[in-house]
Amino acid sequence: MDAIYARRSIRRYERDPVPREQLLEKITEIHPFSSMLKQAPAAIMVCGDLSLEKYPGSWVQDCPAATQNIRLEIAGQGYGGVWLGVNPFEDRVKGLQRLCGLPASVAPLSLLAMGKPAEKKEPKDVFLEPRVRFNRCG
Ligand SMILES: Cc1cc2nc3c(=O)[nH]c(=O)nc-3n(C[C@H](O)[C@H](O)[C@H](O)COP(=O)(O)O)c2cc1C
Repeated sequence: MDAIYARRSIRRYERDPVPREQLLEKITEIHPFSSMLKQAPAAIMVCGDLSLEKYPGSWVQDCPAATQNIRLEIAGQGYGGVWLGVNPFEDRVKGLQRLCGLPASVAPLSLLAMGKPAEKKEPKDVFLEPRVRFNRCG
């Protein structure tokens, strides 16, 4: 649970001594809230391969779970990262499919920008107890 409470979105990274892939820069032209990719040394794109689905449609549950797990592991390994939403925004989905040459059956759900953190953020309590319902809603 510590990882869940302590993790924050990190959008500034130490400069990578290795030249960055131009690909990350190109993503900023597709995704309107991804400017941190101009200086991030790496990003992970989480995709669902619809041709491999055992239970059709369940990728929209599986991929966010994977994204959250990766997000926690990025923080757990001492890196900073931020989740960038892709699905259900069609322009981002189509743009990334085109840019990365994904087949139509491979649907991007999210991106995770990551790198060595160049900013520090304190944990934030975002638990909204009034929104919790027990047994019934309303
Ligand atoms: C589904 C989802 C999509 C997100 N998309 C973006 C995004 O496109 N760009 C961005 O800068 N942050 C994005 N974020 C990060 C949120 O802005 C961030 O989690 C929120 O500001 C809370 O800050 P914290 O993660 O530091 O607690 C996304 C987060 C989630 C869960």
